[in-house]
Amino acid sequence: MKELEEEIKKCRKCRLWKSRKNAVPGEGNYNADLMLVGEAPGKTEDEMARPFVGKAGQLLTEILEKNGIRRKDVYITNVVKCRPPNNRNPMKDEIEKCLPYLKKQLEIIKPKVILTLGNFATQTILPLYGFKAENISKVRGKVFDSPLHGIKILPTYHPAACIYAPWLKEKFENDIKKVLELI
Ligand code: URA
Ligand code: SF4
Repeated sequence: MKELEEEIKKCRKCRLWKSRKNAVPGEGNYNADLMLVGEAPGKTEDEMARPFVGKAGQLLTEILEKNGIRRKDVYITNVVKCRPPNNRNPMKDEIEKCLPYLKKQLEIIKPKVILTLGNFATQTILPLYGFKAENISKVRGKVFDSPLHGIKILPTYHPAACIYAPWLKEKFENDIKKVLELI
């Protein structure tokens, strides 16, 4: 994983390397039972080379810790490892170029549960395990169990969505609680 993280830091496979300050490979426990996958680094993440440390990340961390999930026990990463300019959505070809890194991270960690944060992560992860890429509004809170892969996927809202729409926070926290039961 250390080697992979080093490779990601030097990566120039898609256009996003040009505008990034730092690639953000991910961080946490390499033997984690739980992996969290977001969309792409934002401004703070790009500056600090760490995932989910900005405003959305602080909310995520707060709700995790409140429910007994320590950040250092899980592995947190993103679909795309470099910040898209002005936080625009990652493009299809950028996701494609970057996806081998996420796949390798999944192979190394072999998590029991993946919590996908938001639509991009959900639509990227579900097809990796033979599920249809459904929209987050349709599948949030639903457990996708793949005994074949020994993995369960739980899609939930992106924590940034819970900042814009605080009424989503309750469901988001319920999903975090559900994750604990799944593990
Ligand atoms: N939003 C994301 O999707 N990922 C981060 O790392 C930070 C904010
Ligand atoms: Fe490489 Fe991914 Fe960064 Fe693109 S986003 S430069 S593929 S690490």
